[in-house]
Amino acid sequence: MSINSNSSTLVIPKVSAVPRHVAIIMDGNGRWATKRFMPRVAGHSQGLDAVRKIVEECARQGVEYLTLFAFSSENWRRPPEEVGFLMKLFLKTMRGEISRLSENNIRLKMIGDLTRFDKAIQEMAEFSQEKTANGKGLTLTIAANYGGRWDVLQAMQKAISANPNLAPDDIREELLTPYLSMAFAPEPDLFIRTGGEQRISNYLLWQLAYTELYFTDTLWPDFDATELQKAFTWYSQRERRFGRTSEQLTTSHTLPLSDAV
Ligand code: IPE
Ligand code: IPE
Ligand code: MG
Repeated sequence: MSINSNSSTLVIPKVSAVPRHVAIIMDGNGRWATKRFMPRVAGHSQGLDAVRKIVEECARQGVEYLTLFAFSSENWRRPPEEVGFLMKLFLKTMRGEISRLSENNIRLKMIGDLTRFDKAIQEMAEFSQEKTANGKGLTLTIAANYGGRWDVLQAMQKAISANPNLAPDDIREELLTPYLSMAFAPEPDLFIRTGGEQRISNYLLWQLAYTELYFTDTLWPDFDATELQKAFTWYSQRERRFGRTSEQLTTSHTLPLSDAV
């Protein structure tokens, strides 16, 4: 499969009943804890249990790619104690979970500007990705110090460095997309945001072009297999037109997949 066939604006993607790629904003940890008169960070620890359950359920249902927003490029604005707690939690989690991931055939990927993290986190991230690189099951991507704008800009910088004599007309999707941090995956089919907010918060801005957007009030630590199933059922009822009319969809199986215009 060529890289370009991953673009929903260049090629009409194949649609399956279960989403191939699910991207989640795991929001509501702090409120989950505050409601229980616990410190906000207790919500992050609890949120980890939800991560384990959702990874397992996605793998069981045959989802190919699960992408989780763990820390945004704007989350550095939080109080230093909370940021520090999250950093320790990342490191501890990677150390504790890596064997289980590789036993379960899960390939771990990290996206985001990891250079801002401590050396220990960077090294562990590299080791974890190497150790799971041959996983043939679910690809689990963790977005850490990730921002959608950063992603487009870093891709543009790399594209220009690789092609120094670019003319304005050369700046096309095909030039940029190989350098985006999720170039290894199809675009998300389903986006889920827990915690009640209906915003993207600088998540996969480029990649969400034709993604179905699902918002739920459920706080992330309460999000479980039943909640995931609700999102999948909602997703399976969407009519994904990618710019076409409803009528065209009934005959579209006779059109070549690359017939995007
Ligand atoms: C999401 O939960 C986790 C991270 C951003 C790391 P929050 O911490 O944003 O929880 P709320 O939104 O304050 O409840
Ligand atoms: C988005 O949640 C980032 C993560 C879940 C990692 P935030 O809680 O940071 O988003 P805003 O600030 O409410 O938009
Ligand atoms: Mg939040």
